[in-house]
Amino acid sequence: MLNIPLMSDNIQKEDVNALISFLKETNRFTQGPKVREFEQVWSEWLGVKHSLFVNSGSSANYITMAVLRDLYGEGEVIVPPIAWSSDIASVFAAGHTPVFVDIEKKNLAMQEKEILSHITDKTRAVFLTHVLGFKGLSGPLLKALRERDIPLIEDVCESHGAMMDGQKCGTFGLASNFSFYYAHHMSTIEGGMICTNDDRFYQYCRLYRSHGMVRESTDENFKADIARQYPDLRPEFLFLVPGYNMRSTELNAVIGLNQIKRLDANNKRRAENFKLFLDNLDPKKYFTDFDIEGAVNYAFVLLLREPDDAMFQRVTEALRENGVEFRRGTAGGGNLARQPFVRERLPGFDPASLKNAEFVHSYGFYTGNYPDLSEEKILSLCKLLNAI
Ligand SMILES: Cc1ncc(COP(=O)(O)O)c(C=O)c1O
Repeated sequence: MLNIPLMSDNIQKEDVNALISFLKETNRFTQGPKVREFEQVWSEWLGVKHSLFVNSGSSANYITMAVLRDLYGEGEVIVPPIAWSSDIASVFAAGHTPVFVDIEKKNLAMQEKEILSHITDKTRAVFLTHVLGFKGLSGPLLKALRERDIPLIEDVCESHGAMMDGQKCGTFGLASNFSFYYAHHMSTIEGGMICTNDDRFYQYCRLYRSHGMVRESTDENFKADIARQYPDLRPEFLFLVPGYNMRSTELNAVIGLNQIKRLDANNKRRAENFKLFLDNLDPKKYFTDFDIEGAVNYAFVLLLREPDDAMFQRVTEALRENGVEFRRGTAGGGNLARQPFVRERLPGFDPASLKNAEFVHSYGFYTGNYPDLSEEKILSLCKLLNAI
């Protein structure tokens, strides 16, 4: 038995101790100084002007898509089929139409050429996911989007610390979203972050996080201006946008502040682990040509080299029998365009037209990659897989 879970020990005793100490001292439990401190520390770590702590990565998605609509208008949003359900659900929820484009196998991210060829005058944004620790962006794509004036929103929920050209993913677009769910690079148990360098986008995100209330803004001129426009309403209860309550708590921020201290060292281990895994996997049986430059994978992505249903079944059984926890289809379970909530809303779209996403859906897995996963276990896992 190999006994490799998807994640191990992501909330540690020292996090719990930090929380206990905090609880003994504080009388402020939600949305206060610790949340602000965590946002500041995160902004410094990432290299952005603003960060906004929310209660999940999905909340970050819902807020950014709503703000995109309010500031740029309703329209089409280019999305990947390999991502997470809320990357698509949030697009629908904000009244936009998702436009799927196929992915590359090398990083499971959307194909550049496909993105560019799907841009129309209705395109409001490209909502790109950096999947399972890979960087999903390239310099030429970024340049092409800037030339066409198309906002980029980065979902970095699975790729905290991934780099492109020496700069962290999540700093390139109009906004970026992170998740701190237990299984990710770092955890606040549940939690998420929206990051941006755009002042206006940030102020609107603040409103959406807290019921749409104008008093949540930190821009005094903006607040005064809105208050003047609505003299019949009290400034302390002025709901400008149809907001949510997606705030997190001081408790989660305390855990985040403790966790971020370990993030870079953990990521280094994860990158080393994944390289060891790929170096020892049989390239005749498995796809090993991933683009791992700048990648920080919290999972081992396993793709069969050839479309072979019997082999897929054998791998499934071998992982199960050896206590290796896994997910089939990689991120989000595979081709999201196949999911019922998408098919219902895009009845004319054929999910099978996304050829690489279909391959990953049918012949892809991921297994856990956590910092204290031993070299011995990684090599045993490769041996097990190579023998199939
Ligand atoms: C790519 C991606 N985006 C968004 C999310 C949503 O994050 P959360 O689970 O914090 O809502 C996830 C979730 O795991 C994800 O993998």
